[in-house]
Amino acid sequence: MTEPLSDAEPSTTDDTFDLCVVGLGYIGLPTASMFATQGYDVLGVDVDEHVVQTVNDGEIHIDEPGLRTMVQAAVNSDQLQARSTPAPADTFVIAVPTPSEEREQGRLESDLSYIEQAVETILPELERGNLVILESTSPPGTTLERVADHIEEDRDWTVGEDIHVAHCPERVLPGRILRELTQNDRVIGGVTESCAERAVDLYRGVVDGELHQTTATTAELVKLMENTYRDVNIALANELANICDHLGVDVTRVIELANCHPRVELHHPGPGVGGHCLPIDPWFVVESAPEQSNLIQQARRLNQAVPRYLVGELESVLDSVTSPTIALFGVAYKGNVDDARESPARYVLELFDERNIETDVYDPHVRQFDRELTGFEEAVSGADAIVVTAAHDEFKYLDPAGLTDLMRNHYLFDFCNHLDLQKWQQAGFTCRGRGVPEADA
Ligand SMILES: NC(=O)c1ccc[n+]([C@@H]2O[C@H](COP(=O)([O-])OP(=O)(O)OC[C@H]3O[C@@H](n4cnc5c(N)ncnc54)[C@H](O)[C@@H]3O)[C@@H](O)[C@H]2O)c1
Repeated sequence: MTEPLSDAEPSTTDDTFDLCVVGLGYIGLPTASMFATQGYDVLGVDVDEHVVQTVNDGEIHIDEPGLRTMVQAAVNSDQLQARSTPAPADTFVIAVPTPSEEREQGRLESDLSYIEQAVETILPELERGNLVILESTSPPGTTLERVADHIEEDRDWTVGEDIHVAHCPERVLPGRILRELTQNDRVIGGVTESCAERAVDLYRGVVDGELHQTTATTAELVKLMENTYRDVNIALANELANICDHLGVDVTRVIELANCHPRVELHHPGPGVGGHCLPIDPWFVVESAPEQSNLIQQARRLNQAVPRYLVGELESVLDSVTSPTIALFGVAYKGNVDDARESPARYVLELFDERNIETDVYDPHVRQFDRELTGFEEAVSGADAIVVTAAHDEFKYLDPAGLTDLMRNHYLFDFCNHLDLQKWQQAGFTCRGRGVPEADA
């Protein structure tokens, strides 16, 4: 049995790596480079030949501050190399995608085929004493049923004795991945206690944050509930905004005052919830316990319905404008990022399209989007209304007085409660915030 690495010792045999990281994306590549720069002998594996070539050139295929320097250092010192298939290693880390597929009524279900394929490719390389870690975000039970059970059946081994299997979910924030990889606390769940201990030993060598040991299924649920907590709380804030619309009360003031209470922390409403984690992870909880997760499902549906609600509000305000033209500001899923995956703006745009509302889209951060992005002046010229769907800093500093001559009508719908509506009102705009009545704007 191979002894766990207690620190950054190089591998003892020439053809066995210390670590084999399967999947070299936003999680796998930083993880592989982190271990490599700590002295581990690392093989990175990706099915995408372009990724393999790029990494072996010491380059990167994803945008993340500091990553290029780290990959270059790891490759130049021969601690990291990439291949398209795994090789023997003491530890295997699986960091492949866990996408979701739409089932009925907007309900999502996980697609675990990437994990299954990754396990298939490492099976021939596994030796007694190895450690296998699943880092991909997964529904509860995945590490046990799709990884551990599969290995046991295929090799006739006992997990916890012949082989060790654990789940160590990632909690990093894009843009801060390198720092958070080492500084965040990690939750490490083993299929057995000895599996968890082996995994803790590994991460102890590279992580400064605290390592919390638990079971694999608990670790899976912890990761999912971190994002579900935020989704449910945003749903509560969005419902509060709708209530405030109904009562003619300013939601921002309600939240500010309620949060003066030492045990209350209301979140903020917005145009919906986007990104590749928050709108998806709650469904992974739901698929594992559909009868027990009514609140989570309700919250998800409430957040999904926000764009429709806001477009309805906008239509009633613009009722008197013939064939309105909109300048939509911000297609990213949140402020100051370039990522437009699952963004609320996408759904707002779909609803505008359904209604044949002409829209120009402006986003100073997003480079890739599946419809044309225009420049700022082009978007506002001749527009009747500006609709803010992402809280980018650039929008905050706009001078509304400079826009009045360019626009045909002067409406502002700030779905993010991001702008100083009084300033816009003084410049002659009719303003609506999210849950902020016009009189209070
Ligand atoms: N990106 C994040 O910020 C983040 C944060 C927390 C958790 N996660 C989770 O981490 C996991 C990985 O996410 P990511 O963002 O790194 O994905 P990604 O799409 O950036 O990268 C995944 C990589 O895996 C490769 N791949 C797919 N199948 C493979 C296989 N069988 N063998 C080898 N390579 C394979 C792909 O080619 C791709 O390069 C997901 O479960 C995700 O939910 C991501």
